[in-house]
Amino acid sequence: MDKIRITGGKELNGDIEISGAKNASLPLMAAAILTDQPLMLSRVPDLKDVLSLNDVLEQLGIRAQYDGRSKKLALNGAKITNTEAPYDLVRKMRASILVLGPLVARMGEAKVSLPGGCAIGTRPVDLHIEGLKRLGAEIELHEGYILARAPKGLTGAPVHFTKVSVGATENIMMAASLAKGTTVLTNAAREPEIVDLGECLIKMGAEIEGLGTDKITIQGKQFLRGTEHSVIADRIEAGTFAVAGAMTGGTITLKNCDIKHLQYLVAPMHKAGVHMTGDKGDVIIHREDDRIHGFDIMTEPYPGFPTDLQAQMMSMLTICDGAGMITETIFENRFMHVPELVRMGANITVHGASALVRGVPKLKGAPVMATDLRASVSLILAGLVAEGVTTVSRIYHLDRGYEDLVGKLTGVGAQLERLKDQEEAAE
Ligand code: EPZ
Repeated sequence: MDKIRITGGKELNGDIEISGAKNASLPLMAAAILTDQPLMLSRVPDLKDVLSLNDVLEQLGIRAQYDGRSKKLALNGAKITNTEAPYDLVRKMRASILVLGPLVARMGEAKVSLPGGCAIGTRPVDLHIEGLKRLGAEIELHEGYILARAPKGLTGAPVHFTKVSVGATENIMMAASLAKGTTVLTNAAREPEIVDLGECLIKMGAEIEGLGTDKITIQGKQFLRGTEHSVIADRIEAGTFAVAGAMTGGTITLKNCDIKHLQYLVAPMHKAGVHMTGDKGDVIIHREDDRIHGFDIMTEPYPGFPTDLQAQMMSMLTICDGAGMITETIFENRFMHVPELVRMGANITVHGASALVRGVPKLKGAPVMATDLRASVSLILAGLVAEGVTTVSRIYHLDRGYEDLVGKLTGVGAQLERLKDQEEAAE
């Protein structure tokens, strides 16, 4: 398995091009199921998760041609030849659950493997299932699969989510766009990725109001047409590089990302002594003082602080001149980066869903292991400032969600390299 080796201590300065959002691309790809016409997506990041979902779509009979250079993905759902998403594909990429709603809506049936949990939590899909039942689907759980049927099509209905769920909101919004009548989603998620999906659906002929609020109204249509759509910038990637700039003390310009989708970062960055300013579609990060100051974070659904940036902010706190408290309210097991950061000399105490981080003057480079996508990148960030060399193993997690991470960081002065398996042996 590949590793990344980082030599810490370099200040990062310069521009970083932000890619299209992974968590907008995945639901947008599932939307191709809703129409028999071509859906052309641009600014789709070259990530393992995107390629994995392409495999699932092709399994359904959808043609998916991705060009890693132009970042364009041409999808064509003219013929759905299969309505089953098998376990061996779904387990690799749990967001495949997003094909469930569109498949039932378009084909009247679907057989999708239960995604199972992952490192950060049990990740149930009960809200997806309950929502589809509200739209009239008959659902049965059988041998690890969700069997859904709606032979007469779906019927619009009020759907109240007992918990805010990004994926459930996306799944039911897509299903409702082909249902008969009106669907009103309440306690819906408000993430920018949901707004991006909704705006694409509207371009496909859907009638949707309330995007970005917790109440979304969808007037179902009989057919949706193809369209072209450019994916929004990845705010989590942008936030990750903002932390890299803050930790190393340089000045970083995040190119082509919208500070509107990073508002939750401005206040903690300000407390940390880091300037974050929007400038004509870019975001500039500059640390004012010679050390990071402490701050507190609690993760919440958008527009609150995103759980996907929690590990990165914890890395930043490990070298602050004070202390900070991080509380994770979304997932039940998202502190797996803690023991690895402690191995690098961080001083972190976990009590249930909260972690108290007391700053230390310096981290020490060490061999550490990635456990999930965002925990992996928090170890890379720690390696950027640690004394000596840090080697992060199991970096296949990173390839799922960060496009050309090594290239983007070395492009602004970081000293890191990817070690292929055999190189490592020779190490
Ligand atoms: C999306 O996951 C993102 N993934 C996650 O990003 C992100 O962390 C999460 O939203 C929260 O923002 C994609 O968009 C592909 P949820 P999702 O449904 O939709 C519980 C990353 O690193 N829940 O909003 O699966 C769930 O267990 C990934 O890019 C139910 O109880 O998240 C969690 O506690 C990690 N029942 C909470 O809701 C359900 O049916 C929020 O989950 C669904 C969810």
